[in-house]
Amino acid sequence: MSQKTVKILCIGDIFAKSGMLSLEYFLPKLKEEYQLDFVVANGENVAGGVGITKRYAKRIFNAGVDVITLGNHAFSNIDIYKFIDSPLPVILPFNISNNKTKGKESIVVKKGDIKYGVLNPLGNIFMEKMVTDSPFDRVLSFVDNLKKETNIIIVDFHAEATSEKKTMAYYLDGMVSAVVGTHTHVQTSDEQVLPNGTAFITDIGMTGPYDSVIGLKKECVLTWLVKKEFSQFRPSDGKTVFHAVLIEVDAETGKSLNIERIKLLFDFEEKESTNSDFN
Ligand SMILES: [Fe+2]
Ligand SMILES: [Fe+2]
Repeated sequence: MSQKTVKILCIGDIFAKSGMLSLEYFLPKLKEEYQLDFVVANGENVAGGVGITKRYAKRIFNAGVDVITLGNHAFSNIDIYKFIDSPLPVILPFNISNNKTKGKESIVVKKGDIKYGVLNPLGNIFMEKMVTDSPFDRVLSFVDNLKKETNIIIVDFHAEATSEKKTMAYYLDGMVSAVVGTHTHVQTSDEQVLPNGTAFITDIGMTGPYDSVIGLKKECVLTWLVKKEFSQFRPSDGKTVFHAVLIEVDAETGKSLNIERIKLLFDFEEKESTNSDFN
């Protein structure tokens, strides 16, 4: 009997209008090209760079995303309180400290005959004030619960420290299909499938303004960091970058067979696409 595999795309932090346009431009093409089975995207920066609104969540789903994950900016836009308890497949870090609503801390989504589980812990290092506890303390109980329904489990580990992300990947190796990092907005080139079948990348990267400092206008950040003067941060514009990873998973065992990085540039002003690399 032939092995059934599924193709899963995980998209890094969608940042402001630029990221939204990039998602809407590239995702339908990628779904067609790769015949994607399941798509997860991090939406914590979609509303002007911080937080998410119901309107943006719906646009993300309309573009073809199945589950939205969040992060430390989950509650940065108060609009989230209007829909976080709705049936929309949006999940929160289970250890975020300002989780004042019920929300969903994990999710299982069924597409066709196959179920997909998603989890979104928040890193502890450099974000101590934002977490209730270390992500390592409870992650196994969440994984155990998801495994009652499916072996295909994607963990969007929203964390700052490279060491913490790799440690989480080894901690969960063989138990989940993938541990993919978000939050730093910079794509790393360390994608690999670990010995027991868990795909890993330290950070998927951001989907948003290319000519920017992690999404923000460079002039604002220069004023703040170099001149040490107050500066109103604003999302940058111009050319956009779409960052994601494509993961192939054995649908039965949940083990990953392959992970590859995707980085696509598009200039909406020049109206021309540069398919820079499918590493
Ligand atoms: Fe982010
Ligand atoms: Fe973040």
